[in-house]
Amino acid sequence: MRIGIYPGSFDPVTLGHCDLIHRAANLVDHLIIAVLHNNSKQPVFSLTERVDFLSEISRGCSSIEVTAFNGLLVECARQRGAKFIIRGVRAFSDFEYEFQMALTNRKLAPELETVFLMPKEENSVISSRIVREVGMMGGDISGLVPEVLKDRIAARLRNA
Ligand code: PNS
Repeated sequence: MRIGIYPGSFDPVTLGHCDLIHRAANLVDHLIIAVLHNNSKQPVFSLTERVDFLSEISRGCSSIEVTAFNGLLVECARQRGAKFIIRGVRAFSDFEYEFQMALTNRKLAPELETVFLMPKEENSVISSRIVREVGMMGGDISGLVPEVLKDRIAARLRNA
């Protein structure tokens, strides 16, 4: 059984994340979406909100599971039997950070392989930071986040 783990802050989930989730789910037998709990970045959305949003968009897909994690990603991956860490790269600007993280994770857990996936072009400019910025200023976040979550995310950001 090929188990992959897709970690992130997901603050909030975007169409870029959804793109990656679909691609990753086609590569592995079981995909664990792992939401970072103790985030030093002080997320706008609570852990429960972030997990609930991801659970909602992956509902009906039995090979996808959403969980929260604290501490080192590699420990979570080991505990869950994951062999692949899935990360997205949107542009060259992502690369340095991702490269550093992948090599650190490899040092900590050589048995884990990081797999980088690219979203389709129109999703490659989307980030949670952009969604938060647009939403907090009352802008339209259509096409940036899953349609089914759009109104809830927008309302939440307007009041953040
Ligand atoms: O969505 P993000 O914020 O880019 O995700 C970053 C994340 C959660 C993948 C990363 O911060 C992480 O893995 N944190 C857990 C702590 C850890 O394992 N650090 C060592 C690897 S650099």
